[in-house]
Amino acid sequence: MITIAIDGPAASGKGTLSRRIAEEYGFHHLDTGLTYRATAKALLDAGLSLDDEAVAETMAREVELGGLDRSVLSAHAIGEAASKIAVMPAVRRALVEAQRGFSRKEPGTVLDGRDIGTVVCPDAAVKLYVTASPEVRAKRRYDEIIAGGGTADYGAIFEDVKKRDERDMGRADSPLKPAEDAHLLDTSEMGIEAAFQAAKTLIDAALKEKI
Ligand code: CDP
Repeated sequence: MITIAIDGPAASGKGTLSRRIAEEYGFHHLDTGLTYRATAKALLDAGLSLDDEAVAETMAREVELGGLDRSVLSAHAIGEAASKIAVMPAVRRALVEAQRGFSRKEPGTVLDGRDIGTVVCPDAAVKLYVTASPEVRAKRRYDEIIAGGGTADYGAIFEDVKKRDERDMGRADSPLKPAEDAHLLDTSEMGIEAAFQAAKTLIDAALKEKI
């Protein structure tokens, strides 16, 4: 069993990279952001407060990792609510427990999120911290929405990316930051293929060491 931990801020490209790695190696993939989104959606759907930690924890414990689908969890309001409940230690404890269980699947797993290398899987064989400038990340979000036929305001998205970074990096419990032994991958001027090749070199070396 081998675990690949991939962390990084909003729209850094970590999701695409993680899916690509999981496909290449035949590993199970978990986008842990979806577990926070699913918890937030359950609260919003039930009309419950986003400020009650005990209620949020109950919802977090009911999240089924097998049934997570980004297309039903992608709404902007769900992302905002997710980053609000993600500051609650009881919610994090519940979701991290489930994520750790997932990380032990054979033959291997790829988990992506904000605290995988630091908290969820500190013993992961390979840790990547994927980043890009806020401008590039906002442009990627903007392009995604336009490509999907929507309308978007670049300035608003840029402000949003910065606000989300502040919340994710500034929280007391499991703030977003690179693990000490993470490899940094700045994708500001790197396409997904180049990022994937860089990751593959590191993973192949780790796999070789395990044999
Ligand atoms: O919208 P984006 O793709 O950037 O975020 P996401 O990966 O779907 O995660 C939504 C929110 O969940 C993030 O803003 C984080 O606050 C939180 N999260 C977290 O705290 N820890 C994780 N391992 C993953 C997500």
